[in-house]
Order: sequence, then structure tokens, then C-alpha cells
Amino acid sequence: MSAMPSVYYYDEHPPEADFYAEVIAGFKRRPRRIPPKFFYDERGSELFDAICRTEDYYPTRTEQALLQQHADAIAELIGERCLLIEPGSGNSEKVRLLLDILRPAAYLPMDISRDFLYQAADQVAQEYPWLEVHAACVDFTAPLSLPFCPPVSRKLIFFPGSSIGNFEPEQAETFLRNLIPVAGPQGSLLIGVDLKKDPAILNAAYNDREGVTAAFNLNLLHRIRRELAGELDPELFEHHAFYNDTLGRVEMHLVSQQAQQLKIDGQLFDFDKNESIHTESSYKYTVEEFIELAGRAGFTSRQVWTDPDQLFSLHYFDVTG
Ligand code: TRP
Repeated sequence: MSAMPSVYYYDEHPPEADFYAEVIAGFKRRPRRIPPKFFYDERGSELFDAICRTEDYYPTRTEQALLQQHADAIAELIGERCLLIEPGSGNSEKVRLLLDILRPAAYLPMDISRDFLYQAADQVAQEYPWLEVHAACVDFTAPLSLPFCPPVSRKLIFFPGSSIGNFEPEQAETFLRNLIPVAGPQGSLLIGVDLKKDPAILNAAYNDREGVTAAFNLNLLHRIRRELAGELDPELFEHHAFYNDTLGRVEMHLVSQQAQQLKIDGQLFDFDKNESIHTESSYKYTVEEFIELAGRAGFTSRQVWTDPDQLFSLHYFDVTG
């Protein structure tokens, strides 16, 4: 008989984000903005998965190839039976490229989206019956505490997808610093970071020809209409994404195609023609810039892998001793 898959669940009851309050607050300030966390309702999560599969969006497949190619080297660096921790684990897809080779003692996916997290954790436990899975429903952008910790193993924090780029650089540093007590003195960090490159490649990646990124961005307006009974026409806005060279980031905006007035719960918001709502930034780093940032947060670079076209980087850091 094969071993029974073991999954343990922890729920820290992270406070639910208040879509209504944050949209109203974001529309009252200038420039207007909507926090990116609201992209990920069910439809948004589906569209996000679809973005990752488009021809133009290179980061996902490039990172996957790096993980596959260097899994042996990663296993060598972290050693046997580590504790593998993944903040913002989502569908736990990328970690599958590591599990068979790393053979961790336990896997700790963490995500704020409870049902999604528990489903993904069950699925991993089914597929890897030898693996102990501890799913923790937490807000990983707040300082983390570990729900579970076997005494002897080293910890490896896995943060793929260049999600670090969606923080402002200062917040990215704080986020990494908050990971130090989670990783512990012998701990390590494996993190995927999108590289600075020819802006034409970046612009194409965030303006895919299939229009999936545009649909993903515009889904925010559909959510406002559906969930907040917002009186607005999403068709009167356009997806606009571009690389801002000065700030080293791709910016995503929703741009009003005409002067118009939106109404949410009796409150009116005037938009000028071409006025935008800033919905996300995706910072890009050179290898050196990122090593410096992580260094300030308390990590020491051990190894960096990049693809032959220098599109994407995979960094392995140790907690600075
Ligand atoms: N962090 C990745 C990136 O910035 C994935 C991502 C987050 C993304 N939000 C996005 C990709 C919006 C496209 C559009 O690229």
C-alpha cells in the first residue's frame, strides 16, 4: 500500500481586502489607481494563467526552463530534506519542477486565497504521496510566522514569477527583510527576477497580440460594475502598458478614451480624456541591482542563473551569516 498523502491546514484568517473602500480611495487621489491585488478574482486568475501561456509573455516559460535545468544544482546547494516554503503559492505549478529532485521533508505553500490554496495543496499531496504538505492561509505581505517547523531541516523560500517586481523597490526590500526570520540563520532564498532588456521585448510581453493582458487589466472595471454596481462602460477605457525607462518598470494603466463621469454608490468621478488609472507596476532589475537590493535586506548571493538571451534571472541567496 502506498503512503497516505498528508496535508495539514493552517488558517490565520487574513483580513479580507475591501474592494469598495480601496476603489473609492484610489479614485479620489491623483493619479488614480486600483491596487493590483484586485486583479485576482476567479476570472482574473484564469486570465492570468492565460497570460503566462501567451507567445509574447516570455517570463513564465523562461523561468520554468531555468528551474528545470538547474534543479540539480539547487538541490546540491540546499541539501537533503529541507523545508520548502512558498509565499503566494497560487496553483503550486512551478514548485512541481523542484519536488522530485529536491525531495524536501515538507512543503509549505502560503496564500491568501483559501479555497484555491487548499485545493492546490491537496493536489500536490496526491501527486507526491511521500511529501508532507502544510498549507497556510496567510497574507504573505505581512510579516510571516511559520505554523510548522521540523527541528533539523534547513529552510528554502521559493518566490518565483518575478512577483518581487510588483512591489515598489523599497517595499521589495522590506518584504525580503521580513523573510529573514522565516528562513532562519541557515536558510536560503530561491527567487525569479525579470531582467532589464530591450524595451521592445518588454512592451510586447505586456501587450500580447492575443489581447489577454488587456482583458486581464479591463477585468478590474468589469468587477467594479458587477460587484460594486458601478455605472461605467469598460469599453470606454483602453489597456495601456509601457516600459518606463527612468523608473525601470513596466506600468499598466487603464486609459479613459473620452471625458466621462463614472458613478459608484452615488459618488461621481470625473475623468478627462486620456486620464489613466494606474493598475500595476512590474520593476525590472539587472543581476547586479537585484543582488544589491537583496544584500541590503540581509541576503548573500550564492548563485545566479540566466537564460542565453538574458531575459530572466533565477537567484539563489543565503541568509547573510
Ligand atoms: N509578476 C509578473 C510580472 O510582473 C506577473 C504579473 C503580475 C503580470 N501581474 C501581471 C503579468 C499583469 C502581466 C500582467 O510580469
